Amino acid sequence: MSNVKEKKENTFKRDVYEGLIAYPKKISSKYFYDKKGDELFQAIMELPEYYLTRTEFDILDTNKKEIVEGFKNTNEGFDLIELGAGDGKKTKILLDELIKQESDFTYKPIDISQNAIDGLVKSLSIEFPSLNVAGEKGEYFQVLDRLNTISNRKKVIVVLGSNIGNLLHNKAIDFLRQLKDAMNDQDLLFMGMDQKKDPQKILDAYNDPTGITAAFNKNVLTRMNNELGATFDINKFKHWETYDPETGTAKSYLLSTEAQKVYIESLSLEVQFEAWESIHTEISQKYDDKIVNWLADQAGLRIIDFYTDTNNQYKNYIFSK
Ligand code: AVI
Repeated sequence: MSNVKEKKENTFKRDVYEGLIAYPKKISSKYFYDKKGDELFQAIMELPEYYLTRTEFDILDTNKKEIVEGFKNTNEGFDLIELGAGDGKKTKILLDELIKQESDFTYKPIDISQNAIDGLVKSLSIEFPSLNVAGEKGEYFQVLDRLNTISNRKKVIVVLGSNIGNLLHNKAIDFLRQLKDAMNDQDLLFMGMDQKKDPQKILDAYNDPTGITAAFNKNVLTRMNNELGATFDINKFKHWETYDPETGTAKSYLLSTEAQKVYIESLSLEVQFEAWESIHTEISQKYDDKIVNWLADQAGLRIIDFYTDTNNQYKNYIFSK
């Protein structure tokens, strides 16, 4: 086994161990994403209830000319660095516009999933053969340490999909601060952030009737079964979603529907679940301008502009230092 693979597995192992011996139990949503998890997330983005992707797509499409002109506000070329690029469906709107405007830029998509990066690089070579692409696999925090070595030109850092919402505020501030530290004065951060709205709409987005979101959440159990030799019966766990309109935090849980014991072979660990005990798996934070201003201020960034849809469901902010 390569060292990298071994290290990755050990991190998963360690986080599972720490999360399942803790009370209350928790496992990070970053472990949803393997090949199956990527496919389920793709399916989520097509769901009528999951408004985030469609709304952001429309915002980018409606404002693409102006957004791209803002990226090119100097005469030099620049590097467009995308963190959490996924399938790049929305970014392709901007790439297309940049190419139409004959811009001098390279595109560096980075994603936690090698599978997603491979698929994206392949599709870009077909759709935009002239585009200069350098895809990379990596986690946000690891990549941020190296951002300055990845690019020595003007940087436009793109984080779409409200991906920052999967971080608690203190982690989000760390993330934004590290972005700020990697940015020079002319660099920009373009970030999509889902907004507070009717709580029912949020609950529906994270609890669709077809059960795709539930399967996505439960994929972490399947991963523990496949990769750590665990004995989770996924039918004995229930996907549960909550939303607190005061804090703007949507939370996903897996609930043990009965008292049960699960053995995890690679950890030599027996985990005891009480009936209806929870494993907290994900947060999906919703924002308003006040919170975003506060986060930016804490991180040493400022909002210089934003784009939104007609109902202010979602916003794409532009930050600089
Ligand atoms: C990737 N992330 C921003 C999604 C979200 O909305 O929190 C993941 C997701 N979880 C359930 N549905 C989608």
